[in-house]
Amino acid sequence: MARFIDELKRTHTCGTLRGTDEDNEVVLFGWVANRRDHGNLIFVDLRDREGITQIVFDPEANAAAHQKAEALRSEWVIGVRGKVKGRGEQFSQKENKMVSAANPNLPTGEVEVEVLELEVFNKSETPPFDLSERSTAGEDVRLAHRYLDLRRPPLQDALRTRSAIAHATRNFLSDEGATEVETPFLVKYTPGGARNFLVPSRMHAGKFYALAESPQLFKQMLMCAGFERYFQIVRCFRDEDGRLDRQPEFTQIDIECSFINQDDLFTLIEGLVGAIWSEASGIDLTKLYPGDADHPAGFPKFPRMNFEESMTKYGNDKPDLRFGMEHTDITQIIVDHDGGGVPFWEPIAKKFKDGTYRKDLPSEIIKVMVVPASGNLSRKDAEALEKMAKSMGAGGLARAKMAADGTWTQSPLNKMMTPEMRIAINEACGAKDGDLILFQSGRTSVVHTVMANLRIHLGKKLGLIPESGHGGEWNFLWVVNPPLFEYDEDKKEWAAAHHAFTRPHDECVDMIESDPGNVLCYRYDLVLNGFEIGGGSIRLHDPEVQKKVFAALGIGDEEAQEKFGFLLDALKFGAPPHGGIALGLDRLAMLLSGRESLRDVIAFPKTQRAVDIMSDAPTLVSNEQVSDLHIEIVQPAADADE
Ligand code: AMO
Repeated sequence: MARFIDELKRTHTCGTLRGTDEDNEVVLFGWVANRRDHGNLIFVDLRDREGITQIVFDPEANAAAHQKAEALRSEWVIGVRGKVKGRGEQFSQKENKMVSAANPNLPTGEVEVEVLELEVFNKSETPPFDLSERSTAGEDVRLAHRYLDLRRPPLQDALRTRSAIAHATRNFLSDEGATEVETPFLVKYTPGGARNFLVPSRMHAGKFYALAESPQLFKQMLMCAGFERYFQIVRCFRDEDGRLDRQPEFTQIDIECSFINQDDLFTLIEGLVGAIWSEASGIDLTKLYPGDADHPAGFPKFPRMNFEESMTKYGNDKPDLRFGMEHTDITQIIVDHDGGGVPFWEPIAKKFKDGTYRKDLPSEIIKVMVVPASGNLSRKDAEALEKMAKSMGAGGLARAKMAADGTWTQSPLNKMMTPEMRIAINEACGAKDGDLILFQSGRTSVVHTVMANLRIHLGKKLGLIPESGHGGEWNFLWVVNPPLFEYDEDKKEWAAAHHAFTRPHDECVDMIESDPGNVLCYRYDLVLNGFEIGGGSIRLHDPEVQKKVFAALGIGDEEAQEKFGFLLDALKFGAPPHGGIALGLDRLAMLLSGRESLRDVIAFPKTQRAVDIMSDAPTLVSNEQVSDLHIEIVQPAADADE
């Protein structure tokens, strides 16, 4: 029988000992975070999942342990038995006197453990990078040795936050009567939405499964099956380009409920988010977002903004409201002034006036954004902004500096523009002396994207929003009432803005055929600090309205049956009214732990190029394996990425 572990059980973790434990005998297990040899005494910071405790080897306390400790190196894993002692005093050269040796930066800093017995469970090779909190090692080396990286306290904290989110979710939703149900990962490919990963079938030559991008259709089936309230903490797979807030496999808190409307669903989610914040970070969101008398006690209530307002003021549907710098749409001003003398705006004004544009298809737009004088942007800064705008598809970035008398300087626009239009623009955007006005005109989607990205960039650059993470300020927002259809400017046809199963507002149903662009629907996104942390909709359960939506999308009966047959069939057998949402668990964890990348809150993440550096996935497989799957590799090993 081994002395440590079998006989000597761990009495405390390395984060628990305090002054009140003095003189007690304890057994600790953990890793050597660092070792300092002070001649007669050897000090080791012993680290486990809960923290760090200083242990000290004194030959007078135990000569054998002290001798063994001389060999200890970083990341060796050991067990010790010893006595808890106060840190006492030490001589400070700075203060030229004896001072307390306690370490105020460490929760266990008042004490140390004088070791009476040591066992080395395992040695460690020298780690390839510094594992301390201050480690500046590059991400590739850390990902390649993820098991070491995960020993670092910030990553341990992030994964615990994640675990707390899952725990709070299960508790809250179970208490609300929801049933946790698992749905398949290997599913039928359905068109639309994100790009799917495909899995070839060995048993069915030439056929493929798709890896589920979300349990969407299955959760609707569960409503048809009468579960009424479903949830699942579920992995989803999307073959998209990586970004800091996107991973090819990520986790959703997926929810669907029957017999609810949008308000009911929002209340449930507000309660859930409140419970998550409370458990994962101890923050009471009802203090920031108190509900009204009708709202359930203890549930925060988040504000709402119409999709249209969000697009107009911020250029996207996930506005970060922690700072201003709203956009102003000046298209109507330009039209009213027939272009106001600016040659490249005149054609837009003309097209709007002569009716070439339908009002519901604003395919061109002119917007301005005011950068406050306090931003003090130099000419070089402005040029850098223009370069950024061009990289996003803009033709350029016109700008003007506002003078005290309302005239503009440093701008070619000044010479061309009529004073009347300049005054109208100044009034609309509220520019003041010294402010810089940025202009963007052209295709609506490009103008929105460019201006939205410039706003965030400038917000960070001018210190209006925290560089990273949440900065302690939580800004939640529901973005609601978006259009059901989106006009595809390239294909010149209407497409479903989200998916074809979203319920239109009742008063818009009659417009589906005649005026699709103005049909609003019950789709919603939950936004936090400029990140979309969730999205969902109230679903269409009425086959008649469903038919109209398909017709507007140019999808005939046969095509609908082929693509979505099993859902359409299920809806025919007494489907209850239902709706749902999915929250991005990784994004919640990222924001709650103040990190900037999803990679910091996923135990084994993929790189931006969708590679797992540690295990080396994806990888080549043998020709036999490939032929078992009845597929042929066209360009073996010619993977351009490697
Ligand atoms: P949606 O596609 O909006 O909706 O996804 C819901 C939420 O999941 C998160 N998310 C991601 N997180 C990390 N990496 C990704 N690649 C990624 N993609 C999405 C976001 C997003 O808000 N079935 C619908 C939900 C519904 O209608 O009920 C769906 O999947 O936080």
